[in-house]
Amino acid sequence: MTLNELKNECIKCTKCPLCEGRNNVVFGDGNENADILLIGEAPGANEDLEGKPFIGRSGKLLDDMMHEAGLTREKNIFITNTVKCRPPENRDPKPTEAALCREWLDLQIEIIKPKIIVCVGRISAQKIIDKNFKVTQMHGEFIEKDGILYTATYHPAAILRNINNRPIAVADWVKIKEKAKSL
Ligand code: URA
Repeated sequence: MTLNELKNECIKCTKCPLCEGRNNVVFGDGNENADILLIGEAPGANEDLEGKPFIGRSGKLLDDMMHEAGLTREKNIFITNTVKCRPPENRDPKPTEAALCREWLDLQIEIIKPKIIVCVGRISAQKIIDKNFKVTQMHGEFIEKDGILYTATYHPAAILRNINNRPIAVADWVKIKEKAKSL
């Protein structure tokens, strides 16, 4: 199955109640042959309207930080989220919603075959890497699972709340770029 064929299935998904309030399924964006797969939390209002991940204020900051590290979503990264539809009022995705949506994410991983998976923010890191993951303590560390390296960094929305973490996140992205190059 190609990523586009998967997308065509995913955009019809009605497996969980998040489908009821959505304008668009936010399947993902970027280079499907990338070595790096970025997993955020969930689409917000802008993403739901446009059908693309990370396009609001925090998305712009994410792009800026990745550019600073020498990475772009067009060339180096495919971007998606733990759930593909916007939770109402931007609440955290419920465990049942995330579990049902995980099937789409697992198929994306199978097709893209990333070398590195980058979880952006606590919700993603705790869902994908380890339920006790602490971004402040463990950001930038690489953990190997089934032949893929997993890491996490600060969510850009958290950086908008505390801009002091911006250089730390850029340094994580530089490490991620260097690691991907070395693999
Ligand atoms: N925040 C996320 O975690 N994902 C998006 O796509 C947008 C904002």
